[in-house]
Amino acid sequence: MSEPRKILVTSALPYANGSIHLGHMLEYIQTDMWVRFQKHRGHQCTYVCADDAHGSAIMLRAEKEGITPEQLIANVQAEHSADFADFLVDFDNFHSTHAEENRELSSQIYLKLRDAGHIATRSITQYFDPEKQMFLADRFIKGTCPKCGTEDQYGDNCEKCGATYAPTDLKDPKSAISGATPVLKDSQHFFFKLPDFQQMLQTWTRSGTLQDAVANKIAEWLDVGLQQWDISRDAPYFGFEIPDEPGKYFYVWLDAPIGYMASFKNLCARRPELDFDAYWAKDSSAELYHFIGKDIVNFHALFWPAMLEGAGYRKPTGINVHGYLTVNGQKMSKSRGTFIKARTYLDHLSPEYLRYYYASKLGRGVDDLDLNLEDFVQKVNSDLVGKVVNIASRCAGFIHKGNAGVLVDTNAAPELTEAFLAAAPSIADAYEARDFARAMREIMGLADRANAWIADKAPWSLNKQEGKQEEVQAICATGVNLFRQLVIFLKPVLPLLAADAEAFLNVAPLTWNDHATLLANHQLNEFKPLMTRIDPVKVQAMTDASKEDLAASQTDTGSAAPQGNGELAKDPLSAEIEFDAFAAVDLRVALILKAEAVEGADKLLRLTLDIGDEQRNVFSGIKSAYPDPAKLEGRLTMMIANLKPRKMRFGISEGMVMAAGPGGAEIYLLSPDSGAKPGQRIK
Ligand code: 2FM
Ligand code: ZN
Repeated sequence: MSEPRKILVTSALPYANGSIHLGHMLEYIQTDMWVRFQKHRGHQCTYVCADDAHGSAIMLRAEKEGITPEQLIANVQAEHSADFADFLVDFDNFHSTHAEENRELSSQIYLKLRDAGHIATRSITQYFDPEKQMFLADRFIKGTCPKCGTEDQYGDNCEKCGATYAPTDLKDPKSAISGATPVLKDSQHFFFKLPDFQQMLQTWTRSGTLQDAVANKIAEWLDVGLQQWDISRDAPYFGFEIPDEPGKYFYVWLDAPIGYMASFKNLCARRPELDFDAYWAKDSSAELYHFIGKDIVNFHALFWPAMLEGAGYRKPTGINVHGYLTVNGQKMSKSRGTFIKARTYLDHLSPEYLRYYYASKLGRGVDDLDLNLEDFVQKVNSDLVGKVVNIASRCAGFIHKGNAGVLVDTNAAPELTEAFLAAAPSIADAYEARDFARAMREIMGLADRANAWIADKAPWSLNKQEGKQEEVQAICATGVNLFRQLVIFLKPVLPLLAADAEAFLNVAPLTWNDHATLLANHQLNEFKPLMTRIDPVKVQAMTDASKEDLAASQTDTGSAAPQGNGELAKDPLSAEIEFDAFAAVDLRVALILKAEAVEGADKLLRLTLDIGDEQRNVFSGIKSAYPDPAKLEGRLTMMIANLKPRKMRFGISEGMVMAAGPGGAEIYLLSPDSGAKPGQRIK
């Protein structure tokens, strides 16, 4: 075999201010399967990641929760790490961009760029929030669209008419953070001179580093010419201060990709076989791959290679771009219950079902991938349970009963085992090319052949016949060997199934090359069911629970985490409304007659409320703060009585009670002064 390759692999760093959902998981699962494949093949492959911990969204979220950004990112890192581990995403290191290694590397790279003349400075004029004393990024400014007059539009584009504009064009601008009218203010900014790297990028992006579709998109940007990139932000900002420039901070996207290096550096400190320079020096022979989604291509295929080049480091070998996830053919939707958090999925289903489904649909391209929940159930049950696991369960019993669990030394289907062997290079090529869908198709084609052969031989019938015992043992030993080969091919996708199969087969952890050998005269261990069918009821429970997550986060005073690219979700609390809109809300004093936990719901209480002329049933996501709900009985609170009834898994919620606080144990139910009567309205 040739020399093991040195391969460093990354997935995009998730923002440290929101939960991981199944859209994120597409990328981490894709990367993890590729990394596991490389390790399986004996290469020195290292997979690093980190939380993307900087930026104003994180600073503001921490402030809103009444904790420090450091506390927020520590909490989120613990949550993210658990989600990844439970999805079997096996990082060699999961670090944070808010770490000393990253501060040092970011400063060093910036200084190298500055000293080589690649940094420019100039003053820019931006909106400034006089109350919060901070400059406002576009997404923190709201106003009336200058084109169509629609109110309440964010920063630089109108959701109604699609117009794009400068925030300064908005009519009646307001800070989305404080509600104050922003003022224009100048400040000195630092720019990375990207045009210095135009030539290099033109060559590099066409040198096989990118998928064609991505290279074509980049070529369009290169054709219009590159702009200098603003890499600084003014205090207050949660990030790293720029060396020699007090009060100026690196923009989060400057130090985020450097976080890849920092995570690796942090790992090198405890893995003597890894040498930082051997992977990152300009002349490194190691390979470097970044797996990302198509929304962040400019950062990875333009800014990042230019920064690396300018600072004297190597550039990536490849940027592997994937499309977005849709669920049931549509954008993930909270109201449909298809905005599914990683943890909600894990509460109901095994991670390997999703790993296999994603693998079966992931090709090399940048197309979006649809998680169709019906197809998901059908495919997993038919392929994994019906085809792969079925081979072992059909054969194991006969070997245990007929031969004390010992595999005989007879190959009853030499042509088939030969065909499995012959298929291996093509399956390996598909994995290498990240064409997991082709790899899965070829593996399932082999599984079909194995099943057809066993069905044809029908050991269950032979076993009833006199003198056929040897034949039964030969067929079943061959079946188990074919199963073992399939497990070897599937191991990067299904590591748990592989571990359970290894226990049953009574073998050391299988590696790719083991597919070329067969077990003979070998003692098996007891056979335990390796995988159960997906019960569609569990999928339904998962989507119901996703709706419940939404209900809880809505009752939870609007503190739902900003998602995705870190942009703050529109915050209804900072929007001004007309008096008429307020007057339309039927806000009433309510007496809590009954408060009880809801079976099967982690966060909900069922409240029976007296609102004067009638009783209402309301579900409220306040259980974490009121673990003993009976104590709420007899208490007065405030409710919105004319909220459209909402159908939930547990019944219909006929309104909403009012509570404040960041969530968890800190939720405070509002109450009127004593003396108020149920049904009294807010005046
Ligand atoms: O888009 C995002 O979610 C970013 N947090 C990705 C950062 S990837 C890298 F450059 F650090
Ligand atoms: Zn408009």
